Amino acid sequence: MLEYKRHRRLRSSKNLRSMVRETVLKKEDLIYPIFVKEGENIKNEVSSMPGVYQISLDLLEEEIQTLTDLGIVSVIVFGVPKEKDEVGTSAYCENGIVQKAIKKIKEVNKELVVIADTCLCQFTNHGHCGVIEEGIILNDPTLELLSKTAVSQAEAGADVIAPSNMMDGFVAAIRVGLDEAGFSHIPIMSYAVKYSSSFYGPFRDAAHSAPSFGDRKTYQMDPANRLEALREAESDVLEGADFLIVKPALSYLDIIREVKDNFTYPVVAYNVSGEYSMIKGASLNGWIDEKAVVMEKLISMKRAGADLIITYFAKDVARWLSE
Ligand code: PBG
Repeated sequence: MLEYKRHRRLRSSKNLRSMVRETVLKKEDLIYPIFVKEGENIKNEVSSMPGVYQISLDLLEEEIQTLTDLGIVSVIVFGVPKEKDEVGTSAYCENGIVQKAIKKIKEVNKELVVIADTCLCQFTNHGHCGVIEEGIILNDPTLELLSKTAVSQAEAGADVIAPSNMMDGFVAAIRVGLDEAGFSHIPIMSYAVKYSSSFYGPFRDAAHSAPSFGDRKTYQMDPANRLEALREAESDVLEGADFLIVKPALSYLDIIREVKDNFTYPVVAYNVSGEYSMIKGASLNGWIDEKAVVMEKLISMKRAGADLIITYFAKDVARWLSE
């Protein structure tokens, strides 16, 4: 007699399948990115990201209310400032767009977990994530500015600081800065493992943060490397990171798993702009079923080990989860 396993026994009905499902996606897993632009009455759809908008402060309340009504519990804030200079002053000034946005969001819903992206590239006129001298992105002089940025964001009311710049020592510098300013209770969600990825293109349209010369390969990681991801995560943990982000997500599910298996901190997958645009583009053309594909992608990230997912699909997913 032929002997084999009957795996289909556990797939025979919808309810049985739901009972043996190993991974679940819930609203609390989602972090929604918002782009806040300096100015008034702005709601610009990002051309490469249909459904994603740059929003001015005066229109932010409505957006936060929508997110709250959908049951989304967390947002990550990106600023699009009017003024840019060599050293990214608008990233850490008290009346910066991000600082004002954080205050506004907290006024509308103080329960919403507000994560501040801490980087300089949207605020520097050269679009790099650090201070520049003769075309070189300097590591140590940048740390001080990042620390100042983080403190100003915490002062504005940010619940979590998320540094994305990939300078060495940024977690250590920001931790010291926060602690000295009385914010030892504020956690750091580190972009610990951030690859130099071509999937960030649409974000740079949204945030006006493309580098004006060169690329980010001297600070962001080579997509070919796996062990380096573990070294990056390890140093961030030693420096005091409370969450570890892996970015991008879809082409890096193996890295999410590695980080999950090697560390005990919450792992965050960043489902980046290019990943969003590919799915949007194909679904707007009628080539794929958007809802089915998005849900499959996000469940894959969770299965790979992500505890949380930063995604531009958060609103849609929250809606679908309530259906
Ligand atoms: C800023 C930053 C970037 C993203 C998040 N924070 C762009 C970059 O590093 O060039 C990309 C996010 C996305 O593509 O969705 N450093």
